[in-house]
This record gives sequence, C-alpha cells and structure tokens, in this order.
Amino acid sequence: PTLYHGTLIHSLSLTQLEVLPNALLCVSDTDGIIEWLERGVEGSEIQEVAARKGVILDGGVEVVVLGKGEVLCPGMIDTHTHAPQYPNNGLGQQYQLLEWLDKLTFPREAMFADVEYARRIYDQVVKRNLNAGTTTACYYGSLHDESTRVLADICDDKGQRAFVGKCCMDRNCPPTYTETTESCISSTKSWLSHFDKFTSPSSSDSGSGSDQSVPSPPLVQPILTPRFAISTTPEVLAFIGKLAHSRSPSIAIQTHLSENPAEVEFTKQLFPDCETYAGVYDKYDLLGPGTILAHCVHLDDKEREVISKRGAGISHCPTSNTHLNSGAADVGKMLRAGIKVGLGTDCGGGYALGILPSLRQAAGVSRFVSWSSAGSTASPSSCDAQPLSLPQLFHMATLGGASLCRLESRIGNFLPGKEFDALRIKPASPGMWTDDRDSPEEVFEKWLFTGDDRDVADVWVRGRRVGGAA
Ligand code: GUN
Ligand code: ZN
Repeated sequence: PTLYHGTLIHSLSLTQLEVLPNALLCVSDTDGIIEWLERGVEGSEIQEVAARKGVILDGGVEVVVLGKGEVLCPGMIDTHTHAPQYPNNGLGQQYQLLEWLDKLTFPREAMFADVEYARRIYDQVVKRNLNAGTTTACYYGSLHDESTRVLADICDDKGQRAFVGKCCMDRNCPPTYTETTESCISSTKSWLSHFDKFTSPSSSDSGSGSDQSVPSPPLVQPILTPRFAISTTPEVLAFIGKLAHSRSPSIAIQTHLSENPAEVEFTKQLFPDCETYAGVYDKYDLLGPGTILAHCVHLDDKEREVISKRGAGISHCPTSNTHLNSGAADVGKMLRAGIKVGLGTDCGGGYALGILPSLRQAAGVSRFVSWSSAGSTASPSSCDAQPLSLPQLFHMATLGGASLCRLESRIGNFLPGKEFDALRIKPASPGMWTDDRDSPEEVFEKWLFTGDDRDVADVWVRGRRVGGAA
C-alpha cells in the first residue's frame, strides 16, 4: 500500500466539514481503495501505528508525508462542462443563451467534426482539468460520435474519472451543426457501444466501508446527453428515456434545464401539453437518480418537487449563469426541497478552469440571492441573509457532486472503503498569502478563495498519481 500522513480535510455532509490533523491514511496500490484511516498519529508514531495495522514499513511501502502548511482534500467533481467549448472560454458575456449558442458555441463545436482537432483540444482539456484538481468530470462532447469516443479514450488514458456524452441535437440547430433524427439515434447507439471496452477494476476484499460485493464502475462511463428540450425532438427524447432504462443500473443522463427566460418560453411553445419545463423531461422518463440537470435558475416549486421526487440532481453553474446573464439560481431552495446539488463549470458559458471559481461564485451568488429575497440588494446588513456556508460549498464541490454521479459510496471523501481521489494542496500561487501562523483550516479556506492550480501539488485518482504542479 501507500501511506499518507498529514492534515486531511473532507466533507461528511452538507453541514460537516471535518479537519483531521496528523491523519494516517492507507491506500491499496492494487485498486486505490482507502483501507484504513487513523487519527492523531504523530510523525514519530507512523511506523508503530502502521505495524499495528499489519503494514511493515520497508522499501516496498511508500509514505507520503505532507509538509507543514499542506493539506490533503478529496478531488473536485465538475458535474457539468462542455469539452469542445474550452477554446471559447472567456468570450460571450455580451450575449444571452440562445444568441450565444448561435454566434459562438455551435460554430466552435462544429469544428469537432475534425477528429484530429478534437484529439488535440481534448488532450489539453483533460490534462488541464486534472491539474486544476478536477478528478471527476461530466463532459458534454460535440454531436460527433468519433470525436466523442476520442474524448472518452483520453480520459481513460490520463486517468480522469469521467462521464462522457455525445450531444443529441436533431432540431433548431444551424444546418452546419445538426443531425437528423435517424442519424442521432443510430450514432448514439454506436457511440454507446464504445464504452463496453472500459471494464470495472477487479474488486478487492480489502476495503471495509463500502459495499465490496458490487464491483466499482469503470473509470469512464457513458452519459446520455439530449442537449436540451429545444434542440431535441420528442422522438429522440423518448428514445433516450427508453435506452437509459434498458440497463440496470440505468445509464446516466445529462441535460440543461431552465437556464434562461427566453429558453423557458420557447420550450413551453414546443411542448404545449407540458405544464412545466421539468415536466417535459419527466414526460419522457428522463428524470431519475442518474440524471444531472444543469442550471435550473428559473424553476418553480412544482418543478423542484418533481426533481426531488425522482431523485435527480442539479448542477449549479454560477459562473455561467452570471456570464451569460441567465440569472441567480437559488441553491437554498433546491437544498430545502431535498434535491442533490453539485457544482459545474459549464465551460465556455462559464469561463474558468476547475471548480474553485464556481465555488467562489456560488458563495457570491448565494449572498446576492439572500439579500434580494430580504428585499434589498443595497443594504444587506439589514436582512437576515443565509448565504451558503463553507461546509455547504465544499460539499457541493466533492461529496454532493459524487451523489449526482451516483458515486457517493465510492468517492467524495476519505472514509475507508472509498477510492482515493485526492489533492495535495501546497501553497505556491502568488495570490495565496500563507505563513506558519495559519492553521491548516485557514490555509484550506484561503486556497478555496484565492488559490489556483499552481497550489495543487499532486492529484490522485483511484490511488494513481494523474497530475499536479509538483
Ligand atoms: N443549453 C443548450 N446548450 C447549451 C450549452 O452548450 N451551454 C449552456 N450553458 N446552455 C446550453
Ligand atoms: Zn452547459
């Protein structure tokens, strides 16, 4: 095995952020599973504690000892992003959604008909995301089957845990970037068959926390991706609903929901028999525990109720929602309705690499929402503001995201039995002001709000080192 010693910070629930100084963690080299975790082990006691656990420290056992001022935390989970849109990052803040799709996004994605271009860009996307600390990503590809297979292969090669989807979009798209209903259905089937080659790792009997009788899913999984109701015919929506449920557990689904007022209006015109936008997806059996709904800025109570009832999750994408003038999503209402919430970057509607900017913007937007619901954005001190707390924000970036991916028993924190997806934070970027007077909690909080990928010294997925600045 490999041992890790130092300060661990992880999320146990929406309200519990646990800090473990002098933790000693043992990870199996065979399958990356966390075998045990001991608390309060001084550096001088590592050998003795390991021996008591049956691990003899000889040349074959690596011990990673974190330095003072360093922190180990779970890898970040980006529950919504668009791999072909990274080259557009930073553009488009003058547009709203539908115009932005036509002017910037569809033309860029059309370029991914060229498989070699796709390979070049996707190689960078996965590499940079890993180095920024994104150990799990839910990717939309373009509509192209072959290029999207390449994206899946790159994730697998580089060791990023990922859900990869070929976009389905057979109407209301420009002639240069669309597909017929028939080709959408046939290429979705063909694209799906590509994932048969990603197999589960051999299961281990070493873990104690999670249910080892069920093998861990492959690192890279398919996710059915009807782009949004506007771009997808009822025929394709019905096909995807059936396809998802043709397997057990069902195949994951991702789509966009209620991002922008003009989008909501147009959707209601296209589906006059559905009372709500969420009701469209529900009608075609697309809402379930494996569904990730991005944005959800303009939901009503009924929609929150059906999302909660079906067990679907919401990917909150606050950088995108502000950049594209979509609105301020009320995460507090989602959580109070019992809905699972994770964070998404939504690149290139969002503009930033990695989850940290989304976490910061989620904090800011939640303050704005609480001020305005109290009646005044001008004098927030007079209101009973309930912005998202640090434990809530970090939960959304890790364990909450894992639950959207139905991976909460596998990843998201450091409980024994889970797989070791982790980051070593070692302050290095000029924006991070830390010194030896800071507690590990302070270093961690400063990293969340002022750090970047330069502070992510090591990145591990399933126990394998897959990136980092060190
Ligand atoms: N709705 C449909 N497609 C997209 C997309 O690519 N980005 C965002 N933000 N919203 C969408
Ligand atoms: Zn999106």
